[in-house]
Amino acid sequence: MRIGFVGWRGMVGSVLLQRMLAEQDFQGLEPTFFSTSSPGGPGPDVGHGATVLADATNLEALGRLPVIVSCQGGDYTKSVYPALRSSGWSGIWVDAASALRLDADAMIVLDPVNGTEIRDALHAGTRTFVGANCTVSLLLMGLIGLIRTGHVQWISTMTYQAASGAGARQMAELVAQMRHIGSTSDPNAAALELDRQVADALLSPSFPTAALGAPLAGSALPWIDRLVEGGQTREEWKAQVEANKLLARDTVLPIDGVCVRIGAMRCHAQAVTIKLDRPMSPAEVAEHIRGAHPWVEVVPNTPEDTLARLTPAATAGSLTVPVGRLRPMTLGPDFYTAFTVGDQLLWGAAEPLRRFLRILRES
Ligand code: HSE
Repeated sequence: MRIGFVGWRGMVGSVLLQRMLAEQDFQGLEPTFFSTSSPGGPGPDVGHGATVLADATNLEALGRLPVIVSCQGGDYTKSVYPALRSSGWSGIWVDAASALRLDADAMIVLDPVNGTEIRDALHAGTRTFVGANCTVSLLLMGLIGLIRTGHVQWISTMTYQAASGAGARQMAELVAQMRHIGSTSDPNAAALELDRQVADALLSPSFPTAALGAPLAGSALPWIDRLVEGGQTREEWKAQVEANKLLARDTVLPIDGVCVRIGAMRCHAQAVTIKLDRPMSPAEVAEHIRGAHPWVEVVPNTPEDTLARLTPAATAGSLTVPVGRLRPMTLGPDFYTAFTVGDQLLWGAAEPLRRFLRILRES
């Protein structure tokens, strides 16, 4: 299968390549690597020898390929995709960006959740496949088993989103902020003195905030993306819209909450309130969640298990999506709470695309 990769050097693209190499996905593929900035330069060697970068703005070069994967970002998609389609190209476009997600002829891919629908869409002639927003993919990876019972009436999710979701510069700035705090405060000082030193650091003009817009280290940022109607941020708006498109339900599953950036590097976490239409025992809820697919893991509601297995630090680099802190709430026996974590660059971005390419080859 001949396939073009655009945006393979960025964070999501790099993780996609790493995962494809680890799973030996390049065997039997004939990849062309594209570049917007350095066409003609050396491309990556993915086991087929040296490669030369093609021009990512050259519609003819793109149009010669039956499959194109873009991790280049929404602006690139918006400028190239419509022109490529208008030129008559009918290949398969696979995208990590949100630009095409809600197009009527685009399908959102997350195969542990909608693998059957993906195969059906391929056979029916769908040609555009897009990964979901990371919080949407990770929420569904965690809770799909419970959602599938049909007993979930609505979900409220409060997110704890890692710096990687904002971008590579923001990750670097988070660490620079941590370093700034570390170098201007003394952990041996009395608590109130230490607090004052950190507070001064956060407000100091030399504190680095160009990428994040505010101190994230030692703080939390309850705003991600831009304002949309009704006071939601766009990140909050995506939850219901994208999850429902992905689930292809007859009735809307309401999902809403507050999206918050925290000082984790690459794992998003979510604290979830789930309204069921009937009381359910914790054992039954756990069984539904656990039974959905091989990557979800139910973490016992103990301090030891929670701190060892249900944190961004414990989940980074792993394909496991832990779900824990599961219990009926005092609000009523049909209210459940849960906490779930997932690697924003793996199941949140690269892995659904990598697995889609496998499905495509097998279809
Ligand atoms: N929008 C997400 C975030 C990442 O800001 O964390 C991409 O899905």
